[in-house]
Amino acid sequence: MDKKQLKMSTFNDALDQIKDGMIVGIGSGTTIELLVPKIAEKLEQEQIHIIGVCTSNKTALIAKEFGIQVIEVNDVDHIDIAIDGADEIDHDLNLIKGGGGALFREKVIDAMADRFVVLADDSKCVDYLGQTFRLPVEVDKFNWLLVEKCIKAYNDLKVTRRMVDDVPFITDNGNYILDVELNEGIQPFDMHEFLIHLIGVLETGYFLNVTDQAIIGTPTGVKIKNKYSK
Ligand code: A5P
Repeated sequence: MDKKQLKMSTFNDALDQIKDGMIVGIGSGTTIELLVPKIAEKLEQEQIHIIGVCTSNKTALIAKEFGIQVIEVNDVDHIDIAIDGADEIDHDLNLIKGGGGALFREKVIDAMADRFVVLADDSKCVDYLGQTFRLPVEVDKFNWLLVEKCIKAYNDLKVTRRMVDDVPFITDNGNYILDVELNEGIQPFDMHEFLIHLIGVLETGYFLNVTDQAIIGTPTGVKIKNKYSK
């Protein structure tokens, strides 16, 4: 099975958790872009209705195209379930997210949800956060270089501003992303605390203690990991 098939093998377990009348946080990335049409199909088949709250402009556009009602996060006071992808998942279900640059809105919506479910293929499972993926940090354009210098000075870390086709990547919030190369010695909670207090940092791609369930597609079948069971 290729990665796409592995991602899609997680969908049934996720779709089963979407019920009539729910407010559903809809994440970002290639996994969720494949899931959205399946959500629409389920709504049609079961004649049920949900309201979507999306973590990126792109996902909102796709969800609307598939006929899913989408509203703004400021118009809801709770979210029943959020479903999203991840770039890395450790053994405690802590994550790195933000490969698509949507980490701030993802954090708002995923953390606000009563239940947060992550879908991924097994290549995303790591022993420590930063093993395979750099940590995205969203920073204001005004002082981004100063922030970059502060992060570089912390344990001599490598930091690069994200570029796409030779121009700086801009988030949905109009900011830059700095990608930080981590190492095994970096403690996620400490690193998040350090970063989040730098003036100019909007959010980090660490999603710590927020995941309720990870549904992982593997070549030998789907593995479900719940928050309190290892
Ligand atoms: C978007 O900013 C990310 O957090 C995605 O959720 C994450 O990168 C997973 O993406 P894929 O589903 O494309 O692997």
